[in-house]
Amino acid sequence: MAKITFQPSGKSIDVELGTELLRAASQAGIEIETPCGGEGTCGKCIGKIISGKVDSDSSGYLSNEDIAEGFVLTCRTKTLDTPLTIEFSENLGSEGGQFGNSDEDISLVRKELFPKEKEFEPLAKKIFLNVPEPKTNDGLSDIDRLKKAIQNELGKNEIVFPLQVIRSVADTLRSHDRKITLTYVKDSNRYIIINVEPGDTTTYLFGIAVDVGTTTISVQLISQHDGKAIATATDYNSQVKCGLDVISRINYAKRPERLQELRNLVLESINKLIFKLCDKKQIKNSDISDAVVSGNTTMAHLLLGLNPEYIRLEPYTPTLLKTPYLVASEVGININPNSLIYFSPAVGSYVGGDITAGILCTDLASDTQNIHLFIDIGTNGEIVVGNSEFLLACACSAGPAFEGGGIDCGMRAATGAIEKVDIDSETGTPKYQTIGNVKPKGICGTGMISLLANLLLTGWIDHAGKFNRAKTSPSIKIAGKYGYYIITGASESGTGKPIQISELDIDNIIRAKAAIYSACSLMLKHIGITFNEITTIYIAGGFGRFIDLKLAATIGLVPELPIEKFKYIGNSSLIGSYMVCISQAYKEKQNVIANRVTYFDLSNEPGYMDQYTAALFLPHTDLDLFPSVKSENST
Ligand code: FES
Repeated sequence: MAKITFQPSGKSIDVELGTELLRAASQAGIEIETPCGGEGTCGKCIGKIISGKVDSDSSGYLSNEDIAEGFVLTCRTKTLDTPLTIEFSENLGSEGGQFGNSDEDISLVRKELFPKEKEFEPLAKKIFLNVPEPKTNDGLSDIDRLKKAIQNELGKNEIVFPLQVIRSVADTLRSHDRKITLTYVKDSNRYIIINVEPGDTTTYLFGIAVDVGTTTISVQLISQHDGKAIATATDYNSQVKCGLDVISRINYAKRPERLQELRNLVLESINKLIFKLCDKKQIKNSDISDAVVSGNTTMAHLLLGLNPEYIRLEPYTPTLLKTPYLVASEVGININPNSLIYFSPAVGSYVGGDITAGILCTDLASDTQNIHLFIDIGTNGEIVVGNSEFLLACACSAGPAFEGGGIDCGMRAATGAIEKVDIDSETGTPKYQTIGNVKPKGICGTGMISLLANLLLTGWIDHAGKFNRAKTSPSIKIAGKYGYYIITGASESGTGKPIQISELDIDNIIRAKAAIYSACSLMLKHIGITFNEITTIYIAGGFGRFIDLKLAATIGLVPELPIEKFKYIGNSSLIGSYMVCISQAYKEKQNVIANRVTYFDLSNEPGYMDQYTAALFLPHTDLDLFPSVKSENST
């Protein structure tokens, strides 16, 4: 064993020889973000060896001088047979940070996309039954009599009782004079009984729609009595500390104990949100009898504890694309343990159930005349183009910038997020607006778009996203190599720290928008059409309550087209999950969509890097594509 002491916290722990220092820190309760998934490429886990000896391979990232001073990548360093003291910088091991939580719920669901009343048919249903009295010598058990009563009402199908339900039947039948409410699911030619309750509770039935994003998770509580969404809660996916994007998470999951850790983290995030919603609506989690989960293919694998490694290795084969109904207690989602969980079907390794759920919210798959484009702006950017005749999808890694990740003062769209910033062209000073009109806590995706576009239009940043060093503004600070734009000082902010955005943050945003724009243009080029031939561009993503599409075009995130062509549909993965949760017809439609989509692999396209590089400017190197910005420039 080796004793390790961590400074400045003073925490210590005894670990097996050869234990990786990052793992030891985690065991000691020191949480360190690992955006690269422990691959030795992000430098977030750097520590300094104060005393003791280690076996380290940090040379790929750290310079020889750094290593000589004792710095190591703790994800690439193991303990040796000596007591060890290691120091982390003050900002490591602290709670929250850039992924700090917010309690606020922002529902992005658009009412007009809800299914019509006639399409309302949830998977789990309830029925009120009056079960006959037992008689001496009739030879029938409680379950036999219950079965008969069910078959009288629902028909002579096979009936499946989970053991937990069987255990509760005797007492439930006797507590309300054999008047009971049964929750069941019809699966092919059988009924699966989920719950037996005393009395008539038929109006009290709930389901949940779950969007498992790489960066954020949303859960929506639905009353399955009338199909209404009654509350939504969103938070960061706790896995973000183990890697910012899907590839980093796959790398992190290489070891079995880490795969389990990732599964536990995502379940913890989902279950916390379920608890919060139940608490808010004063219902028990066991009253939730139905769940639809949508997420990208990697997130679905990690949630189910499936090894995601083969998703990233040629020929990119996931364990499954279509998941059979699974039981809640096996999956680990804290609702009624006998409930069935439905996962939205995926198309391939990089186009998951979140996208088939998203397409469901649009006219993409059904329009016989026009071609539409769907862009889901998330950590994974997914793009689908098509109509009733064809559906073509591709995916690109945009990073979590628009969801607040990887940006120092970034946050998701919740109360306190700056969502709009106007810039005074003379002084460069900002005028901002926050969600909820409270003191700012950070800046969300829509705020970043607004800030960057207005800084560009007023000439305070150039096309490369660098601050204009020829002018001075009280809001711009240049420190060393980098410039910072201070939206608000510490005294005015809701965090006690200034809310600012650096040139490094701007680089991240530019890379995110370039990935999305270049993927769109390359896919359209592949099918031989231009943006002008697209009838509707659906923009999906949970990066704000609204998005100013004119400003999004100003920075080159979306093409410059008439504004009527765009429809912002919010978190379409969550909306699609909701639709499937309350309608079997939508579930069928989603399956048809999943079978129809063809995957277009950008990495095999020789022109992708050129397109991407050309888009690494605000808005683009080719200003002819963005005539408004070009004309602003020439005035
Ligand atoms: S370099 Fe160690 S976690 Fe990224």
